[in-house]
Amino acid sequence: MEREFLFLKPNTVRRGLVGEVISRLERRGIKIVAMKMICPTKEQAEELYKEHKGKPFYEDLLKFILSGPIVVMVLEGPRVIDMVRHIIGNTDPLKASPGSIRGEFGMSITKNIVHASDSPENAERELKIFFKEEEIIKYRLDVQDDL
Ligand code: CMP
Repeated sequence: MEREFLFLKPNTVRRGLVGEVISRLERRGIKIVAMKMICPTKEQAEELYKEHKGKPFYEDLLKFILSGPIVVMVLEGPRVIDMVRHIIGNTDPLKASPGSIRGEFGMSITKNIVHASDSPENAERELKIFFKEEEIIKYRLDVQDDL
C-alpha cells in the first residue's frame, strides 16, 4: 500500500491548527498509521531538506523548521500521495486553491502549514528520518469499505 510522509510545521502548532488540519485529512478518508509531536534535531531537518541545500531560502527554511515542535505522521492508502497533495494545495499559498489547507491557512511559502512528500521514493526516505518501522501501525479503518 502506498505511504505518504506529512508533517505539520511549527507555525501550525503555534497557531493551534493541529486539529483542523488533521480533521481535514481524516474527513477525506485518509488513514493515519503513525503520528507524534517532536522537536526535530538539526540533523533531521538537514536530512529532510537536503535537496534544497544551497538555495536562497534554505537557511530560513531550516531555522523555521527548528523554531518549535512539529507533528510528523505517516499516512497510508491507494493514491495517498496525489490525494494529500490535492488536499494541501500548491507550495505557494497564493497559488493554492482557496479550499485547500494552504489556500485557507497559509500566507508565506516558507510557513506554508504542512510538508508532504512528492513521490513514493521521497515518502519512504523522509518517513525513515522520523519513524522506526515498528512505530507504523497496522489496523483497519472503519470507513475503508465506504470510500
Ligand atoms: P515544503 O513542502 O516543506 O518543501 C520544501 C519547502 O521549501 C517548501 O515547502 C517551502 O516551505 C520552501 N520553499 C520552496 N520554495 C521556496 C521559495 N521559493 N521561497 C521560500 N521557500 C521556499
